[in-house]
Amino acid sequence: MKRRTLWRSLASIALLAVVAAGLFFFLPHPLPAVAASGAQPRGAALLERGRYLTVAADCAACHTVDGGKPFAGGLPFKLPFGTIYSPNITPDRSNGIGAWSDAEFVRAMRSGVGRHGEDLYPAFPYTSYALLSTDDILAIRKYIATLAPADTPSRINDLVFPFNQRRVMRSWKLLFSTRRPFVDDASRDARWNRGAYVVQGLAHCGECHTPRNLMFARKQDEALSGGEVDGWKAWNITPDRDTGIGGWSSADIAAYLSSGHAPGHGSATGAMRQAVDLSLSKLSVQDVDAVVAYLRTVPARRVGPEAAVVAPTAAVRASGPWNPAQDERSLGSRIFAGACASCHGWNGTGQQNSRAALLGSHSVNDPAGANLVRGVLEGSAAPGDVPQTAMPAFAKAYSDVEVAAVANYVIGHFSGKRGTVTPRQVRMARID
Ligand code: HEC
Ligand code: HEC
Ligand code: HEC
Repeated sequence: MKRRTLWRSLASIALLAVVAAGLFFFLPHPLPAVAASGAQPRGAALLERGRYLTVAADCAACHTVDGGKPFAGGLPFKLPFGTIYSPNITPDRSNGIGAWSDAEFVRAMRSGVGRHGEDLYPAFPYTSYALLSTDDILAIRKYIATLAPADTPSRINDLVFPFNQRRVMRSWKLLFSTRRPFVDDASRDARWNRGAYVVQGLAHCGECHTPRNLMFARKQDEALSGGEVDGWKAWNITPDRDTGIGGWSSADIAAYLSSGHAPGHGSATGAMRQAVDLSLSKLSVQDVDAVVAYLRTVPARRVGPEAAVVAPTAAVRASGPWNPAQDERSLGSRIFAGACASCHGWNGTGQQNSRAALLGSHSVNDPAGANLVRGVLEGSAAPGDVPQTAMPAFAKAYSDVEVAAVANYVIGHFSGKRGTVTPRQVRMARID
C-alpha cells in the first residue's frame, strides 16, 4: 500500500471511531414500549402488590432519611470521587417523579436512565432491579404514585471531573449492566426460580454480599461470597460450611432474615439490621422459604477463613453468665465486665434477651473486628426496643484506645483468636 493511501485509511478509521464514540456517548436512550401483562392484578390488589414489592425492594432504605419525609430522598452516598444524593421519588410533579411516564420509570429501573435521558450512577441498584418483571416495576410505580407528594428539591451531586460527566457511565453500563428481566430456569422448580428472583433482583442481596472489582462492578463469578457496605463486612452467604452459611439450618437462615437473629449465629447489626427491619422481616413466609432454597444452591466459596466462626473457647464454656472462668485484669476485660457482661454474659448466652447472645456470631470471630467496632460505636436496635433492651452506642463513652481494647478482648475471649483492632482503626470507623 502506498504511504499516502495508508495514512488516508488510518485517518478514516480514526474518524469512524470518533463518530462511533460520539454516537455511543450522545445518542438518546430509547424509551421502551411498556404494558402490563394480562396477569397483572387491578385496583386495590395492584396497589397492595406494589406496596409489598416496594418494601421487598427496600426503596425506603435509600430514598427516605431519618426525620425526613418518606421517599423525599437526600441520603448521601460517599464515593472515592465525591458524594451523590438519592433524589426525591415522591409523586410531586416538579421535585419528585410525578410527571414521569410509566415508560420513563421502567427505563430508570432497568437501564439506569433519568427522565431527561441522563445516565444514572449505580449507587441506585438498577443492575439488580433490571431483573424485575415489567409487571412488578409497574406495580411499584402505581404504589409510589399514591404516596404523599413532598416538595423537597433533590440535592445536586457533588462529584469531581470526569465522574460528574454522567455519560461516563455509558461505558460502565455497556460492560456491567444486563438491562434484561429475569428469565426462569426451566430445569428448576418455581420455588427456586422465585428465590433467585428475590435474591438477585428484588431484595438485591448481592449489592452488599457480592465483592466488587476496581470499577465498582459486582464480580458475578464470586456472587454472594462476601462484600462490603459502608465500612461493614457483609459476610459470605454461600453454602461453604466454614466461612459461609453452609452450617446454618434452613430454619436458622429464615429466622435471621425475618427477625435479625438466629439462635447460635448472632444478630444482624448495621446495614443488615436496617435491611431486616425495613424490608426482609416483611417478606412473606413463601418468599423467605424460596430465598433459603435458592441460597442453598449457589456455588459454595471459601472466602475469609480467618473470620470463620469457631466453636466456643474453653474459657467461654467454663464461664457462667455472671462470672468469668479466669480473673483477667486487662483494660479490655475490665470494660467488658463493667459495660457489656450484664447484657451479653461471660458465657455469651445473652443475659438481657436472646438477641444479645454472642455465641456463634461472625462479628466476634473476625480478628479484624470490622463490624464489632462499628457495632460498639453505633449500637444496634430493633424497632420498638426500649432503652436497656438494645445495644447502646458507646462512641461517646469510650476513647479509641478503650474501644480497641474491649474489641480485642471480646474477639479473644469468644473465639480464641488474636484481635488486631487498633485505636487508629477505631478513629477511622468513627468517621465512616
Ligand atoms: C441502595 C440505595 C438505593 C435503593 C435501594 C434505591 N435507590 Fe433509587 N436511587 C438511588 C440513588 C443514589 C439515585 C440517584 C442516582 C444518580 O444520581 O445518578 C437513585 C435514583 C432513582 C431514580 C431516578 C430519579 C431521578 O430523579 O432521576 C428513581 C426513579 C429511583 N431511584 C427509584 C427507586 C425505586 C422505585 C427503588 C425501589 C424499587 C429505589 N430507587 C431503590 C439509590 C437507591
Ligand atoms: C444493605 C446491605 C445488605 C443487603 C441488601 C443484604 N445484606 Fe445480609 N448482611 C449485610 C451485612 C453488613 C451483614 C453483617 C451483619 C453483622 O455482622 O451484624 C449481613 C449479614 C447477613 C447474614 C449473616 C451471615 C453471618 O455469617 O453472620 C445473612 C445470612 C445475610 N446477611 C443474608 C442476606 C440475604 C439473604 C439478603 C437478601 C435477601 C441480604 N442479606 C441482604 C448487608 C446486607
Ligand atoms: C443494654 C444491653 C447491652 C449492653 C450494655 C451491650 N450490649 Fe451488645 N448487644 C445487645 C443487644 C440486644 C444486641 C443485639 C442487637 C440487635 O439485635 O440489633 C447486641 C449486639 C452486640 C454485638 C453484635 C452481635 C452479633 O451477633 O453480631 C456485639 C459484638 C456486641 N453487642 C458487643 C458488645 C460490647 C463489646 C459491649 C460493651 C462495650 C456491649 N455489647 C454492650 C445488648 C447490649
